[in-house]
Amino acid sequence: MPSRRPDRAARNAEGSTLGFGRWKGSTVNDVLIRNVRLYGAGEPVDVLLGEGEIRDIGTGLDVPDPDAVEIVDGAGQILLPGFVDLHTHLREPGREDTETIETGSAAAALGGYTAVFAMANTTPVADSVVVTDHVWRRGQEIGLVDVHPVGAVTVGLEGKQLAEMGTMAAGVAGVRMFSDDGHCVHDPLIMRRALEYANSLGVLIAQHAEEPRLTKDAVAHEGPNAARLGLAGWPRAAEESIVARDALLARDAGARVHICHASTAGTVELLKFAKGQGISITAEVTPHHLLLDDSRLETYDAVNKVNPPLREASDADALRRALADGVIDCVATDHAPHAEQDKCCEFAAARPGMLGLETALSVIARTMVEPGLLDWRGVARVMSENPARIAGLDDQGRPLAVGEPANVVLIDPDATWTVRASELASISKNTPFEAMDLPARVTATFLRGKITVRDGKTVGGAI
Ligand code: DOR
Ligand code: ZN
Repeated sequence: MPSRRPDRAARNAEGSTLGFGRWKGSTVNDVLIRNVRLYGAGEPVDVLLGEGEIRDIGTGLDVPDPDAVEIVDGAGQILLPGFVDLHTHLREPGREDTETIETGSAAAALGGYTAVFAMANTTPVADSVVVTDHVWRRGQEIGLVDVHPVGAVTVGLEGKQLAEMGTMAAGVAGVRMFSDDGHCVHDPLIMRRALEYANSLGVLIAQHAEEPRLTKDAVAHEGPNAARLGLAGWPRAAEESIVARDALLARDAGARVHICHASTAGTVELLKFAKGQGISITAEVTPHHLLLDDSRLETYDAVNKVNPPLREASDADALRRALADGVIDCVATDHAPHAEQDKCCEFAAARPGMLGLETALSVIARTMVEPGLLDWRGVARVMSENPARIAGLDDQGRPLAVGEPANVVLIDPDATWTVRASELASISKNTPFEAMDLPARVTATFLRGKITVRDGKTVGGAI
């Protein structure tokens, strides 16, 4: 990334003069995590965290001052770099009845995340530096996870006039990703200009690929199931036509483009083609599109309504393979909390979206690790390293090595648990995984060496 953004220290120093909590970039106490397997491989080692960094890695590490060191028994579990979610809806400002930056941060930390990107479709929309800086500062004040605001591409998400991306990028939050998610930047001329503008700023445009003329009134994947159930169909071509178009626009602008929540086998083929042409295109897939398909619609339960919709089993299969072989770069949750009244209603009237932060790791373990499509090293790649790289974060998704930032997550791969919405940290309860038995659980999360989750519970919040 070019250094037009103020650097992190400067941004946080500015935060403190404005009366927000000091950046929690260092810890008083060191933490010694005993007996962990890095990336789930090799012999167990001890890992010492201090001053926000990984200080030492070795077997039988000495404790220099037992009073100043907190010891965590890793019990032979797996240590990975903390997860990075490029696509989260935290609903603050505007819909604090459904999620807040505080409850969403807790859900993220419990899910093993150390950084999340909060989408711009709030009320007011995050199309100005006032809103994006508020979101960043509030996240730092809470201190459980770095909450990076995503700025809107167009004013009010209306697709007509470009938002002031440069001002948002230059603010305290140093916005580095822009998206109208929830809406597609469908006007090709606006998208072309957005890509050119973003390129000159060194920031990324993330596209919600949906040609709106093809999805008017659509509520479910267009296919035999929707036809039988009498639900208006959302055709694959609505996504794929925008993916193809934007790949070409990115090529011509010499810019990068990121595709949100890829959902079809055709999108996978288009990504393969575009990458083969040397176009700078990246893509994410959600846990729900990897595990679920449109056979879930049978009950008309709107907990299964999401945008893009759950597709067919053959699409989910293609998405899993694409994530395994790198055609799709990363996992992103599209965590989308909704109030009960917006979900427990007629299917057509319900809002689209599903919770995802606390269940993501377990769904990836079920869909990718159990069938042998990814090992734990691969999980680190798609949940931490690649998303950090795509967003241009230099302090996340780093190797587990001495001197690197102490953003790490401890995972029990042998745990199984039953998902209960009532036990999740989110205010909203719209998980499609209710009552499912899933593998693998986050036992501890560390943000800059500070414990944010221990024994499956959040610790503190830093104020
Ligand atoms: O299902 C979705 N929900 N897809 C989106 O693009 C937006 C999101 C939301 O904000 O609820
Ligand atoms: Zn979207």
